[in-house]
Amino acid sequence: MASIKSSIPSRRFDAIIVGAGGSGMRASLQLAEAGLNVAVLSKVFPTRSHTVAAQGGIGASLGNMSEDNWYWHMFDTIKGSDYLGDQDAIEFMCREAPKVVYELEHFGMPFDRNPDGTIYQRPFGGHTANFGEKPVQRACAAADRTGHAMLHTLYQRNVRAKTHFFVEWMAIDLVRDAEGDVIGVVAMEMETGEVMVLEAKTTVFATGGAGRIWAASTNAFINTGDGMGMAARAGLPLEDMEFWQFHPTGVAGAGVLITEGVRGEGGILINSEGERFMERYAPTLKDLAPRDFVSRSMDQEIKEGRGCGPKKDYVLLDLRHIGADTIRKRLPSILEIGHKFANVDATKEPIPVVPTIHYQMGGIPTNIHGQVVAPKNGKQEIVRGMYAIGECACVSVHGANRLGTNSLLDLLVFGRAAGNHIVASKLKEQSHKPMPADGADLALSRLAHLEASTGSERVQDVANDIRKTMQHYCGVFRTQELLDQGSKEIMALDERRKQVSFKDKSKVFNTARVEALELDNLIETAKATIVSAAARKESRGAHAHRDFEKRDDEHWMKHSLWFSEGNRLDYKPVVTQPLTVETFKPKARTF
Ligand code: FUM
Repeated sequence: MASIKSSIPSRRFDAIIVGAGGSGMRASLQLAEAGLNVAVLSKVFPTRSHTVAAQGGIGASLGNMSEDNWYWHMFDTIKGSDYLGDQDAIEFMCREAPKVVYELEHFGMPFDRNPDGTIYQRPFGGHTANFGEKPVQRACAAADRTGHAMLHTLYQRNVRAKTHFFVEWMAIDLVRDAEGDVIGVVAMEMETGEVMVLEAKTTVFATGGAGRIWAASTNAFINTGDGMGMAARAGLPLEDMEFWQFHPTGVAGAGVLITEGVRGEGGILINSEGERFMERYAPTLKDLAPRDFVSRSMDQEIKEGRGCGPKKDYVLLDLRHIGADTIRKRLPSILEIGHKFANVDATKEPIPVVPTIHYQMGGIPTNIHGQVVAPKNGKQEIVRGMYAIGECACVSVHGANRLGTNSLLDLLVFGRAAGNHIVASKLKEQSHKPMPADGADLALSRLAHLEASTGSERVQDVANDIRKTMQHYCGVFRTQELLDQGSKEIMALDERRKQVSFKDKSKVFNTARVEALELDNLIETAKATIVSAAARKESRGAHAHRDFEKRDDEHWMKHSLWFSEGNRLDYKPVVTQPLTVETFKPKARTF
């Protein structure tokens, strides 16, 4: 391989942020406003990043509707996480929540308002007052388009701060030097295929999740696990990848998200007998129990023959009693989604829904500053020059199951925290580390392999088979047999992936190259997920294992770390000590 200096151009920045969703743009804002030379890379125009699809709200204990406080929010988050979340990070996030929401309000975010002018907050799953006693309204909402409003607010603020955007650029691989420090990325302009080295004193991954490893997903097509793929190929571990959240209400057959805010506004789930079945499963919180609970209950209803429709394979979300005026005011997008994707008028008919993959709780391991942390010589050490934030990161505030609205909160809190930590490291006074001659070889060899390959596989065939395999073998309920067989099939798909080629090379569009590069990321994420799931012999949060029905704190109160090299697993302890308050000890989860 030729030296990168002679083969491809390079540019230098103080900081590179890969991904222009909520966390990436919250971090870049902090850096640009501090006068750093910061570039943000995005596969799509920034305001089309997947954060735009978030609907229901941002969790923060503002107490605008009734009494609330961060300590109750912290308790709900830990209980929601099935006690796998790190309590120091959770305390940090819940205490910071009101601050980041008010900051956003001052940036111009168009929140819905109460008559007294304060931010409107709605109930959401698992949000309670007084440690589980009764539901509380904690989700700060802009109708059912909160992510849309947030992303546009952050983008405008970044433009004002002169953040540099590389739009429709895809990061291909990390560049690490001989000491293992991260010194930038190799990236490709999607329109032209031009490859460039982007050198940076700090590289921040804000690449979002990998919901597209599943067939039925609420996620955008861009969510192909690029950050996880790059991290895994660079030798970094992926943490807690067995924990994937099924959102209870995806439109049956279409996958499109119907916000939990519908149930927050009073919507209920009913089975074929017209029964509000969540009253049986969660007598206190009912339809507003955490998502793992509700999804399993729905699956159970369908399995026991009380599903709706000709195949009895979905349940119904009924919001008729909320009233057309409230639906139009608080849930306008849901009305539109009902029309377009389910062919129903939600003011008059219920919407058919099924649990649909929505969110990965795991990701690249970090500390509360967003610094990537990986085992080295038997200790957890900081990977110099690298941060990860948002859904691609595992800090871990969501543990085995995330509470709704804590995702937008996570983006804001940890995007800001990483930005602050980078600013405090005085990047301007540091120089760039020298770029090794073989720095771009990993990325270039992947591109060269694609051009040279004469294999017989097509990208989308392999990608679709990954999705089908994950959906079938790694669903809401898992068994050891399914997970073991699924692992074998995913490893076989990894072999097929290596045989991908373009038949007529003279007619290859760069979009096809991008899809082939994304396939490498999909497979790393799928391997991490199913191998970690097959190893965890307990049920916890979103990992519901039929052969091990109970949570096993004695053996499994630990985070998994999956390494691509050797398809190997390691583990590390859960942080049970919060920053300033007492530990919340594990208890049985009832709602
Ligand atoms: O249901 C929703 O609006 C999704 C929110 C979330 O995932 O936090």
